[in-house]
Parts: sequence; structure tokens; C-alpha cells
Amino acid sequence: MSVGTRIDLSRMDLVNPDNYVQAIPHEWFEELRRDAPVIWHPEPAPNKGFWAITRYEDLVAVHMDWQTYSSETGAVGLEELDAEQLELRKTMLETDPPRHRELRNICNKRFSARGVGAYEAFIREIAVKVIDRALEKGEFDFVPEISRELPIRFLCAIFTVPQDDAPMLIDWGDAMIGNQDPEFSAAVVDQVDTEAYRNLQFRSPVALEVFEYAKRQRDLRLEEPQDDVIAALGVAQSEGALNEREFVNYFALLMIAGNETTRHTITHGMDALIGNPDQLRRLQEDPSLIPAAVEEISRWATPVMHFRRTATRDTELRGQRIRAGDKVVTWYISANRDEDTFADPYRFDITRRPNEHVTFGPGGPHFCLGAHLAKLETRILFQELLPRLRSIELTGPAQRMRSNFVNGIKHLPVTVRPA
Ligand code: HEM
Repeated sequence: MSVGTRIDLSRMDLVNPDNYVQAIPHEWFEELRRDAPVIWHPEPAPNKGFWAITRYEDLVAVHMDWQTYSSETGAVGLEELDAEQLELRKTMLETDPPRHRELRNICNKRFSARGVGAYEAFIREIAVKVIDRALEKGEFDFVPEISRELPIRFLCAIFTVPQDDAPMLIDWGDAMIGNQDPEFSAAVVDQVDTEAYRNLQFRSPVALEVFEYAKRQRDLRLEEPQDDVIAALGVAQSEGALNEREFVNYFALLMIAGNETTRHTITHGMDALIGNPDQLRRLQEDPSLIPAAVEEISRWATPVMHFRRTATRDTELRGQRIRAGDKVVTWYISANRDEDTFADPYRFDITRRPNEHVTFGPGGPHFCLGAHLAKLETRILFQELLPRLRSIELTGPAQRMRSNFVNGIKHLPVTVRPA
């Protein structure tokens, strides 16, 4: 039994990545929302356990009260970090205001709706190329051919790094985010000893390659100035706003966060539309519905399943006593199916209104920096893909990533008839 409730959590281990391979265990989250919305979840040593927050309203409350639920005093993942690790792995994600604001301001404007809107024509051009190449094949795996290709190519454009680097950047992202899946990483965190990489993001040795790449790109901009994200980070560093480690961590955060998450959104969106042919048809008949569909696809996908905060003081949530230092894990994947917020939450409905999902966070200081970019990419992808499709069907089941953090699809075999 767990603290303060009568739910037996030995039936529902939210930590074991194996429990997400077949499907998201929505039935567990539903039970938790109903019977134990704030519950102490034990964890294997060396971790000490965490409060699992599964209701929408509570997730919002935690994220808005950053003074009580800090991003800085612990980490934002399940892994418990000591002071050295925290220092060496720190990004804006792991800071509280006011330092957080300083870090975020370095490139906030470049990711605003207007900032990313400037790339719309370019993004569309790349999308068309990638889609046409894939559709010619007739039968293909949607992930490597389409969803994995696009976000990284957009990031290459925004970072003005060579498009030829895209495959390498994809592999690095896979290895870091896929650090619980043997298909992507040789250093699977819960299966092999990763102590040597303890000071790197995701405990991934690949982070070192990403760091070297970031430094090389920055140095190139010293020789030949550019107006891009990497140059902005370089300037911030030269002005003393970032140290060397913060610079490389910043780059890695943008590259990894911007690539993997959007990919999975696009794949889940395609999978959901194939599974709901009436909605696919409606979107094809009326493309003006696509922006609303992107919101529903985002809710449906919820690629980031949780983040964590650490309590800075003793407090109470739904009658549970949370103590200073406790880990508090907010489950977006559950909040986005909360029946108190979303009518018929397990129904994929491209016209859902309102649709205040928390896929990019509920607001508050850490609201996803890349939300505008991710939505722009997803919208353009479906605007260009759907008119080119006469039909699309699965030729096998979607294969899911082994991860308790990312709701990822790694393979989606399809057959298409172009329009
Ligand atoms: C569908 C795609 C994406 C999803 C689902 C997603 C999700 C999230 C979530 C849940 C957060 C934390 C929100 C919170 O704590 O309240 C976040 C933060 C962040 N995201 Fe995204 N993200 C996506 C795309 C991107 C892209 C394209 C980029 C940029 C290239 C990006 C960069 C970031 C950064 C830098 C943060 C940290 C913000 C901060 O701490 O202030 N994300 N994202």
C-alpha cells in the first residue's frame, strides 16, 4: 500500500520503461486520477520515490507555483542528481526565476510565433521534398521517411548548420532521448553501468559529441558572423551570461528537445488519422480545420509524459503532506486525458473545443520554448501531406519506444496511394 491511500501501487509501476512498450497504461492513470490523484510512488534505489500527480488541475497548480515546486533545487527528471551533477547538467529547464528568465531571454524572440513564422516558406519547401520522396516509394516506414526527417531539417535551417549534418544530429538525438531503448542506445540507463556519464544529460556518452559540435559551430561564427541561434548563444557566452558548460548544454537542449518531440507528434497524428478515417477525410475536404486538428494531435500525442519539480518547503496538495525535498512528478500524459477537463477524453476529435491541453506545459515559467515551432511544423506537414494522399493504411502495428519519459513511436509501416 502507498502512503495515504488504499491503492496498491505494486500493480502499476510508472517507472519501469517496459510498461510503456505495448501502450500507454491509461487504465492506471485513470484509476490514479479517480482514487489517488496525489500518491507517493516508490522507486528502485538509489532513487527515493516521488509524488505522482495525475489530475489536470493539480498539474497546473504545481507548475504555476514555482516558489514551492522548484525546477532548480532538484532535477526535472526522475533521476536524483547530486550537487555536481546538477551544476554540470543545468539548462534553463533546471533553473528558477530570475536566472531562468535571463537564460530564456537569450533566444526567446527567435522562437516566438513571429520568429519561427519567418521560416514558414522554407519549412514548406523542405516538407514538400521529404513528402514527395516518401510517397514515391508507395510502401514505407513513416517514421524514418517523414516524421524523423522534418523536425531536424527545420532545426538545421534555424541554426544555419548544414543540412548534410541532419542524419548525424538525428542519431545523436535518438541515442540521448532513447537512452532506455536498446534500439537507440548502447548505454541503456537501467540495464548497463552508466556511472562514467553521470555528469552528462540523459547520462548519454553521445552528449560529448553534441558538445564538440556546438563548440565547432560557435567558433565558425566567430570567423564568419551569422544571425542565428548558435550565434546568439555565442554572444551570450562572450558577454558572460553563459559559461562554457551552460553554452553546450543550451545547444543540446534545443537540438534534442526540438527534434524528438515534434517527430513523435507527427507520427502519433498520422497514426490517429489512419485509425479515424472519417476525421482524415474531413481534414482532406476542409483543410481550414488543420490548425484545430494540430491542437488535438498535440493532446493525443503528449510526447513528453512527465516532468518533475522538487518541493522547497513542507506543503499540502489534495490533503497529502508533501515535505521539503520531496520529488513531485506531474504527468502530462494523464492530465491530457482528465475526464474533468476533456469531454470524452479517449476520443480523437479534430474539432475538439475547448482544447486546453498541457502538452507544452500549462503555462508558467517553463512553458515550452518551441511550442510555436512544433505547431508550425506539424501544421505544414499535414497541410502538404493530406492533399497528396488518396489513401494511407498501416501494413503493421506501430512500434513504440521503450521509455517512461517520451511517448514515442519508432516505426509506423504504411502503404499509400498518392492522389
Ligand atoms: C511537440 C513538440 C514538443 C513538445 C511536446 C514539447 C514539450 C515540452 C514540455 C512539456 C516542456 C516543459 C513545460 C513545463 O515545464 O511547463 C518543454 C520545455 C521546453 N521545450 Fe519543448 N516541446 C516540444 C518542442 C520543442 C521544440 C521544437 C523546441 C525548440 C527547439 C523545444 C524547446 C524547449 C525548451 C528549451 C524548453 C524549456 C523551457 C524552459 O525551461 O523555460 N521544445 N517542452
